[in-house]
Amino acid sequence: MGGVRQQLMAAVLVAVALMATAAEGYITQKTWGAIRRANRAGPFVGLVVPNTYEMVPVLESPSFVASKSIPNMDIQGRRFRFGTIEGQSVVMVMTGLSMLNAGLTTQMLLSLFRVKGIVHWGIAGNANEDLQIGDVTIPEYWAHVSLWNWQRFGDGKDNELSLEAAGDYTREYGFLNFSDYTVGQSNPALSANQLNSIWYQPEEIFPKSGEPEERQHAFWVPASKRYYELAKKLEGMELPACVNATTCLPRAPRVTRVSKGCSANVFLDNAEYRQFLRKQFGCTPVEMESAAVALVAHTQGVPFLTIRSLSDLAGGGSALGNEASTFLDIAAQNAVTVMLKFVPLLGKSGSEMDDGAAADM
Ligand SMILES: *[C@@H]1O[C@H](CO)[C@@H](O)[C@H](O)[C@H]1NC(C)=O
Ligand SMILES: *[C@@H]1O[C@H](CO)[C@@H](O)[C@H](O)[C@H]1NC(C)=O
Repeated sequence: MGGVRQQLMAAVLVAVALMATAAEGYITQKTWGAIRRANRAGPFVGLVVPNTYEMVPVLESPSFVASKSIPNMDIQGRRFRFGTIEGQSVVMVMTGLSMLNAGLTTQMLLSLFRVKGIVHWGIAGNANEDLQIGDVTIPEYWAHVSLWNWQRFGDGKDNELSLEAAGDYTREYGFLNFSDYTVGQSNPALSANQLNSIWYQPEEIFPKSGEPEERQHAFWVPASKRYYELAKKLEGMELPACVNATTCLPRAPRVTRVSKGCSANVFLDNAEYRQFLRKQFGCTPVEMESAAVALVAHTQGVPFLTIRSLSDLAGGGSALGNEASTFLDIAAQNAVTVMLKFVPLLGKSGSEMDDGAAADM
């Protein structure tokens, strides 16, 4: 009888242990084993992509060859896909929309796999009227522009922000004043707005090279100097101008390196704010993920580059504005085409640190 009771007890303990495992977020021994095996094919170029829309053209491209032994691995709700692009080992992961998804997925990628550098691509809104739908931009710097200090009504430029003295917030990067956007009131006194002003803030970061718990700040995060230099080779690349025999863009899309890109937890469909971002920060692509990828790569000392094709004018205003959906597929395909050309340029050296990437940041 005692034996049966013991068996029952053991069964209960096993059941409890299984339940505990299911309820916890940590990575099991079995998964660690699989990660170790996958890493034998590294170091990888880490490919970080926002959505299926921008990932499927890669999976369908003959340039991407999925790994035969470990085509993919699912960890904590993310699918990591292994393969090669012209012989270069890659691991690709889709983030989903916006900064939280992009940041945490990039951190998982860097924590779990031997990644020597990150390439990110997708579509973006366009804040630069010199460029056109379908053009592919490669920014040198990225900023996250949705971290704000929202100033109380009655305070102005000369008033210190709340917690500014403690070094938490700053007036260094400028502000947007809501009263500047009132419709139909030219008298400033009448256009005063209770929402007052928002002041743009740098991110608090904790770089791997720094002291844990000692914050640093970052607003403009640089792409890898070496990757940005290499990307110059892609300028002049030919991209298709037509959807079909009759529907074409005014000119063939270009690949162009630009100074700045801006990310926020905001889908931008507003011409005034687009123009503000251009004027205040010099943004060209405006989108929802790159700065998060950049900040994580930067804090881990890993080189990164973003390739973003322009899919719309972020709030209309161009002759093509209403046709954005017609050219959306061209835009997504262009970003993928340029990414597939860029990745093989990175060479097959084991570690980026060997060729000066450590000095990139
Ligand atoms: C913003 O506009 C308000 C009027 O609505 C004005 O009192 C305030 O000084 C302005 N703030 C800045 C930072 O210019
Ligand atoms: C070409 O594409 C446009 C936009 O999708 C469509 O309206 C048009 O009918 C197409 N023309 C032909 C010849 O397929």
